Amino acid sequence: MNHPLLQVEDLKIHFPIKKGLFSKTVGWVYAVDGVSFSLNKGETLGLVGESGCGKTTAGLGFLRLIPPTSGRITYAGRDISEADKSTLQGLRKEMQIIFQDPYSSLNPRFTVNEILGDPMEIHGLYPGKQRRERIEYLLEKVGLSPDYARRYPHEFSGGQRQRIGIARALAVDPAVVVGDEPVSALDVSIQAQIINLLIGLQKEFRLSYVIIAHDLAVVEYICDYIAVMYLGRVVETGSYKDLYLNPKHPYTRSLLSAIPLSHPAQTKNRIILKGDVPSPINPPPGCPFHPRCPERMDGCDQHRPTLKDIGGGQMVSCFQY
Ligand SMILES: Nc1ncnc2c1ncn2[C@@H]1O[C@H](COP(=O)(O)OP(=O)(O)OP(=O)(O)O)[C@@H](O)[C@H]1O
Ligand SMILES: [Mg+2]
Repeated sequence: MNHPLLQVEDLKIHFPIKKGLFSKTVGWVYAVDGVSFSLNKGETLGLVGESGCGKTTAGLGFLRLIPPTSGRITYAGRDISEADKSTLQGLRKEMQIIFQDPYSSLNPRFTVNEILGDPMEIHGLYPGKQRRERIEYLLEKVGLSPDYARRYPHEFSGGQRQRIGIARALAVDPAVVVGDEPVSALDVSIQAQIINLLIGLQKEFRLSYVIIAHDLAVVEYICDYIAVMYLGRVVETGSYKDLYLNPKHPYTRSLLSAIPLSHPAQTKNRIILKGDVPSPINPPPGCPFHPRCPERMDGCDQHRPTLKDIGGGQMVSCFQY
């Protein structure tokens, strides 16, 4: 039996809204309000949803870079939801993150040598002469010349910088790499190169990926499984194939219909949702998607659906099932 490497159960992250001289808590931002998924070794999960639905917050939460409000995170069979500082330090080596913006995520004052060497130093890896060899090896693996080690981030293009960001994530031999919109800041022509690079590296290093994206087109080529998020919650999960060929949640259907290229699974009509994503400060009662749902039924505004297993590994949070 294949045990998941990373399992997230009903993760919630609420931020207090403070006001006044004494910083009294006057409300909450329900940024992440029920995220569940599991990730197997060597596989890729896509975490997809509109801007503001809580993808980045969820990612930072299950990496334990920000404290979760509630929920359970299990890594390699160990509950890390309340792991202490020293356990977290070890965890940082196991799980790395690549950021969306290759311009702001690299320190402009550091050379590539320092950017890639620092994480190794922190974790006591590749000491002495091995370090330089390791840096050159990593640069080569991400398609850059080893001579670039002495250069500064401003000397590189966006695509090259994202390659450096990827090399930095790999520097400490992680098992899990989270890519927070790793290609959305790049030119379309460069996006495919970076996605292909990630796919190649995954095979070579047996990495497990969580790829965060705001549209399904980006994750199409890379993901085995998809979790669709809406307003802080996962509303549907399943294999990439099931989700594309047989989307169950009305929100998943609308996301799929927005992919411009004619995909065989795509319905002819584009489903255009009414209104904007509601604020996570006052999420709608009942199903959070009901105000925009084209398939709304009686009671959807009163009761909250939960993720239900509908067989074949697909789970959906909708009263239709
Ligand atoms: N530290 C914070 N304090 C208060 N609210 C926050 C904080 N961080 C994020 N939020 C809010 O939580 C919600 C989710 O934000 P998040 O950045 O996780 O969304 P996202 O899905 O990553 O969006 P995008 O696609 O634009 O990156 C947003 O409404 C955001 O304003
Ligand atoms: Mg984000």
